[in-house]
Amino acid sequence: MCGIFAYLNFNVSRERSYILRLLFNGLRRLEYRGYDSAGISIDYAHEASTAPLVFRQEGNIETLVKSVYQEVGATNLNLEESFSTHAGIAHTRWATHGEPAPRNSHPQTSDPENQFLVVHNGVITNYEVLKETLVRHGFTFESETDTEVIPKLAKFIFDNANEEGDKSMTFSQVVLEVMRHLEGAYALIFKSQHYPNELIACKRGSPLLLGVKELTEQTSNGASFNDVKYLSSNGQPKEFFFSSDASALVEHTKKVLVIEDNEVVHLKVLLTVTKLYSIIMLVTIVPLTIKLTSNIVEQINKGEYEHYMQKEIHEQPESLTTSMRGRLLRGGSCKAKSVLLGGLKDHLKTIRRSRRIVFIGCGTSYNAALASRPILEELSGIPVTMEIASDLLDRQGPIYREDTTIFVSQSGETADTLLALEYALENGALCVGITNTVGSAIARNTHCGVHLNAGCEIGVASTKAYTSQIVVMVMLALAIGGDTLSSQARREAIIDGLFELPSKVKEVLKLDEEMKELAKLLIAEQSLLVFGRGYNYSTALEGALKVKEVSLMHSEGMLAGEMKHGPLALVDETLPVVVIATHDTCFSKQQSVIQQLHARKGRLIVMCTKGDAASVCVGGSCRVIEVPQVEDCLQPVINIVPLQLLAYHLTVLRGYNVDQPRNLAKSVTTQ
Ligand code: UD1
Ligand code: M6R
Repeated sequence: MCGIFAYLNFNVSRERSYILRLLFNGLRRLEYRGYDSAGISIDYAHEASTAPLVFRQEGNIETLVKSVYQEVGATNLNLEESFSTHAGIAHTRWATHGEPAPRNSHPQTSDPENQFLVVHNGVITNYEVLKETLVRHGFTFESETDTEVIPKLAKFIFDNANEEGDKSMTFSQVVLEVMRHLEGAYALIFKSQHYPNELIACKRGSPLLLGVKELTEQTSNGASFNDVKYLSSNGQPKEFFFSSDASALVEHTKKVLVIEDNEVVHLKVLLTVTKLYSIIMLVTIVPLTIKLTSNIVEQINKGEYEHYMQKEIHEQPESLTTSMRGRLLRGGSCKAKSVLLGGLKDHLKTIRRSRRIVFIGCGTSYNAALASRPILEELSGIPVTMEIASDLLDRQGPIYREDTTIFVSQSGETADTLLALEYALENGALCVGITNTVGSAIARNTHCGVHLNAGCEIGVASTKAYTSQIVVMVMLALAIGGDTLSSQARREAIIDGLFELPSKVKEVLKLDEEMKELAKLLIAEQSLLVFGRGYNYSTALEGALKVKEVSLMHSEGMLAGEMKHGPLALVDETLPVVVIATHDTCFSKQQSVIQQLHARKGRLIVMCTKGDAASVCVGGSCRVIEVPQVEDCLQPVINIVPLQLLAYHLTVLRGYNVDQPRNLAKSVTTQ
């Protein structure tokens, strides 16, 4: 996994060879996290006008070290040259966007002159929109990374300010402007030719630490940034280290500060007579000064689509890919395919020992958890129970220290889910978050968790977050389940299924027109029932939720096994009923449900696996929605897509607001 290390010496003479050794050593300390390429940047000369040097290599640290010394030898760069102040940055990369290759390694750069350089841990979920904007402004990209937009955006902001005559923009102002445009999880270090001997660090959702050596006794472990400002009145030589992992700092200093989300730490020489060193903490966002107007971004955001819900449904192949990036390991000649969830790695043992796993959420997030429950039970062998957050609170249901509670929330801010989290924390359970919103209350207050990285979801009806939630929870089941030999074939089949899932979703999206036609048929109906079971009970609940919340048509999702215990009384030749009957262990039971509905002259719409149309409609006529088959636990991801499309088209045809349905809000922050 990615690792960040940076070193800045102030007022203490360090030779170039020393700085290189220190940076390489920092990278070696991060090696244990796993990586596939690495890079560093140091200064070429003392003069501000010279471009910093960047070295990047695929492979291990030693390959990088060898290539750096070779290049240094070839250019006659003096290794003995001393710098009294120098800022160096380094990075180990775990490929997510683009293969392991020097061009995709970090530091990523703004231009051939390396005016702005960035090392990055995390995932920028809106990089495509930013890239498109920057390309329109003449930038050319050399990597496939999400990171490359960051230094280029910094240069764009810097150049714009200069063109407008604002020569006084500080490095931290540039970075704050950059941050305003970034979505996703990240830890970043910036180095710039325009701000020599300065470093900026900032983060949102990804860990980052600052270590300070040779501090006076007044700044101690865990000191607040107000305490650190004390450094500005102190001219003593110092060394500063940034790292994403404490293991790279401990050999240098015990004085470590944990940087918080949305904080910007700026290391810079104060240009005063005394040339003191200062750490400046900036938490305020400076006003926007560049011409990246929100309607340009908005336009690009919606792209060719008329509504956000429509766009979000259609971008699911990409959002699913992003949710899985860097987390699925293909295995090799002697290695098994596996899953790596960095945020849970250190907690897996505790989770495996828990007496019970409790999923807690509301609405769509609850449905996604329900879809993932069977596979989690199967792979972990741990009992999994389901809680709707408000109901858990109403009952004050039992939660124990031996429980692992998993809080599922797209926004990370839903009041009921948050109160349930508070309740679980009070009761001593391990609290795991699964959220799409970096820095949200759920992400901050859980002990550990997984970000969905599905990109910002704007439509009130949750679509792409739902499918990413299922995929993340299937990966979670694989991670908790461990690597027992007996389940290896099953696990590998699921991992293969995950790799193929985005292309299968692309295939099912081709049903768009067919769903529009179906919507035309259903436009005047009062009600729609959806029957599902097993993995697809969740599809029935979620499909009905989508239809009712946006198209304002009454719709109920029901467990097919319960049909004869009441709902069957509703069935006649007029009421449309959707039956989910794709191939899995419940298939034959669903066939019998279909026959029973036919016997009552039910008006059936059957969702089945491609090629099964003839066999599912035995005993009467029905309309069929054929979908591609995937691994059973992933089938809910495929099956929900036609129902999302149906809900969307019904809403547009009925003339209602798709993105902001009546009476609803995206984030329900009251009880
Ligand atoms: C990390 C990197 C990513 C890299 C991946 C490779 C970050 C943000 N992400 O992702 O660049 O591609 O490794 O495997 O650096 N957390 C909570 N509660 C929540 C959600 C998250 O506590 O509800 C915590 C996690 O425990 C973790 C941190 O937030 O400590 C980041 O989570 P996540 O983005 O999911 O991390 P990784 O998947 O490890
Ligand atoms: O942000 P959350 O996932 O916690 O939100 C939970 C529900 O409010 C949400 O899923 C709601 O049901 C959606 N509007 C459904 O599309």
